[in-house]
Amino acid sequence: MFNLDEYKDKLIDNIGIKRFNHCLRVRDFALKLNKRLDNYKIETAAILHDCAKYNEKYYLDKYKNYCNFDKEILENKAVIHAFLGKIIAEKEYNINDEEILNAIKYHTTGRVNMTELEKIIFLADACEEKRNYQGVEEIRNLAFKDLDKAVLKTLDGNIKSLIDRGLIIFPLTILARNYLLKEKNG
Ligand SMILES: [Fe+2]
Ligand SMILES: [Fe+2]
Repeated sequence: MFNLDEYKDKLIDNIGIKRFNHCLRVRDFALKLNKRLDNYKIETAAILHDCAKYNEKYYLDKYKNYCNFDKEILENKAVIHAFLGKIIAEKEYNINDEEILNAIKYHTTGRVNMTELEKIIFLADACEEKRNYQGVEEIRNLAFKDLDKAVLKTLDGNIKSLIDRGLIIFPLTILARNYLLKEKNG
């Protein structure tokens, strides 16, 4: 069982106090969104979702035997910390719950047929109380009413923003968005 007290210093040392506080806010928002899942899973995934951030090079080297990432992932800063985060949560923080690990892995890109835990962590990361971008309040409100609609709106916003900034859209994000759109329209 993950115990924050045991790992707090290590996590702060790894990601810094600012990012750690973001993780606490993600946890708080995710707990508010939670209706029926185990709070332990929510808290653990939220606290650890960015555990690989800022140390990608170090961890990629340390766990090179486990990191079979293709170039597309390695070169995508936003994606690599999430995919690598799954491995670091397992190896460095002793998490072995696949649902928690996948919520960490897909917190940036989303994926087709996300679990409720994945949706909650994805949204809490996008909407925690200090997030401040145009439309965030609308997504926040939507998240309490309909997780799928809120995830879809967030993915749409992310895709638009990536296009505006001339950045690569990771294919999983497009697949996740199309999947939700089809679901919504039956
Ligand atoms: Fe992240
Ligand atoms: Fe985050």
